[in-house]
Amino acid sequence: QTYHVAVVGATGAVGQQMVKLLEERQFPIHKLTLLASRRSAGKQVSFKGEQITVQETTPDAFEEVDIALFSAGGSVSKQFAKEAVKRGALVIDNTNAFRMEPDVPLVVPEVNMGDIAKHQGIISNPNCSTIQMVVALKPIKDKYGLKRIIVSTYQAVSGAGNVALEELKEQSAKVLNGEAFTPEVLPVAKDKKKFQIAFNAIPQIDLFQENDYTLEEMKMVRETKKIMHDDTIEVVATCVRIPVFTGHSESVYVETEQEVNVEEVRQLLREAPGVIVEDNPAEQEYPLATRAAGRPEVFVGRIRRDLDRPNGLHMWVVSDNLLKGAAYNSIQIAEAYISKFKS
Ligand code: A2P
Repeated sequence: QTYHVAVVGATGAVGQQMVKLLEERQFPIHKLTLLASRRSAGKQVSFKGEQITVQETTPDAFEEVDIALFSAGGSVSKQFAKEAVKRGALVIDNTNAFRMEPDVPLVVPEVNMGDIAKHQGIISNPNCSTIQMVVALKPIKDKYGLKRIIVSTYQAVSGAGNVALEELKEQSAKVLNGEAFTPEVLPVAKDKKKFQIAFNAIPQIDLFQENDYTLEEMKMVRETKKIMHDDTIEVVATCVRIPVFTGHSESVYVETEQEVNVEEVRQLLREAPGVIVEDNPAEQEYPLATRAAGRPEVFVGRIRRDLDRPNGLHMWVVSDNLLKGAAYNSIQIAEAYISKFKS
């Protein structure tokens, strides 16, 4: 069986990776529809040696689509995802639009693949920072139980889209050349102030909420509990944008129910699906964003027991935010859907 797949946001940082992965992984496609805003209508994108013309996203563009991969921002998903479902498509949505709705599964295949079966037409792909963290924590939760997570992130600009990537490139050149510039995109397009990202670290990703946490931080809190089916896990996050193009890094501290054994944790993680352990301090082996970029796995290292708490564990978790954090996780969901839940 082959499918008619649509990519919404096909010209964007994540959408481009989706198109590439559909080709590389030989997803069973008989037709690929590429959608974006009116600005991109008419652009050509190559897929399996053919040129496909990008179209404007409209409700009718979803006629006869079997699987629609959305990554064009929450408002586009809110406007069009239900139109796609109405026309018979399964929507896999990479935005924040529906993630916390009770009848929408929020899926990381290595953690809660079974939730796919409960879908009512839409399956959400979690936030990039949440995905890589829960992949690394799942084996630890299964073995020792999870009480508390304290995470600080070091997030790449590509998570804010192609305009943010361009801004980092241009600003970096201007700083080095001693030229003046006005920041225009980061930290958040829709907030009032903009700050320099080149050679800087900005402790704001998305808008501030009433509790003085940012939306990105609260996404990590809420989504982790939903994916792990456990509202009792205490989660707190500090999310920081740094001048890296691709690859989010995270310093993760966890407190487990049972006392942890570091060598056993390394072994559990080595055996865990989608995880690569890079952890040998004597040889300076640890995960790096520059090495994780372009690869689909989650890299874990710097695994060590807390100095004071026998049930405390620290680690460094790195993954390509556009791949496992977005496009690859969405394609994995689509592959799981067609193999397990469709036939
Ligand atoms: P376009 O390139 O036509 O603006 P990124 O995450 O890199 O910023 O990309 C966002 C993606 O979402 C792009 O493909 C962009 O298309 C698409 N997009 C933005 N606004 C809309 C809209 N109103 N309708 C459909 N697609 C949109």
